[in-house]
Amino acid sequence: MGTIIAPSVLSADFADLGGAVDQIGASGADWVHLDVMDGQFVPNLTFGPKLVRDLRRRSRAFFDAHLMIETPDRLIRAFADAGADAITFHLEATVHPHRLLQEIRGFGKKAGISIVPSTPAGMLSELLPFVDLILIMTVNPGFGGQRLIPECLDKLRFLAEERRKQGLNCLLSVDGGINRDTAVSAVAAGADILVIGSAFFASRDKSALVNQLRNFSPVM
Ligand code: DX5
Ligand code: ZN
Repeated sequence: MGTIIAPSVLSADFADLGGAVDQIGASGADWVHLDVMDGQFVPNLTFGPKLVRDLRRRSRAFFDAHLMIETPDRLIRAFADAGADAITFHLEATVHPHRLLQEIRGFGKKAGISIVPSTPAGMLSELLPFVDLILIMTVNPGFGGQRLIPECLDKLRFLAEERRKQGLNCLLSVDGGINRDTAVSAVAAGADILVIGSAFFASRDKSALVNQLRNFSPVM
């Protein structure tokens, strides 16, 4: 199987998010990445569970919700009920990540955890058995269109090795500054999932982009 491609609607026209989800579907991409921001954890605001629920009605795509919100504990159920398939919260935003991961799995969803660029990947080692997806931020979260911080890719290498040592099979996702140029090194570092926002919506031939990104070989 090739790399999972997860376009983010953050860079789409918010006046036509239904159309954006249709565009993602038409491109052949695998997942729809939904960036939820609360203006507290990150200096930007996007949308909440109602939008996820409304998009759910018109799409059968896999919904990958990325919660950039303080105290995600309060809203997990709402996003699960709204129809998210994977729910990823930030390690930095809660005191009880282990409990939260179990809660997400309890709702029958894929449980994801994310870290910002300044958080060491080793902070995730003990959580690996309880996680379905790890999302490594390669920009400071809050805005699309930023440049990837190359040092963050070392975290993918570390976690791929940690996963192997622990005999697990969680997925490694990379988010921030992914485009045709940076995707190669992200996949080489161990990414199973590429989140792509601005480069996807700026692309004129989205299917060709998705095909190209999906087939980058992890062996350099
Ligand atoms: C950033 C979001 C990303 C964003 C990526 O805070 O988490 O998902 O949409 O956008 P690009 O690909 O433009 O960096
Ligand atoms: Zn994201």
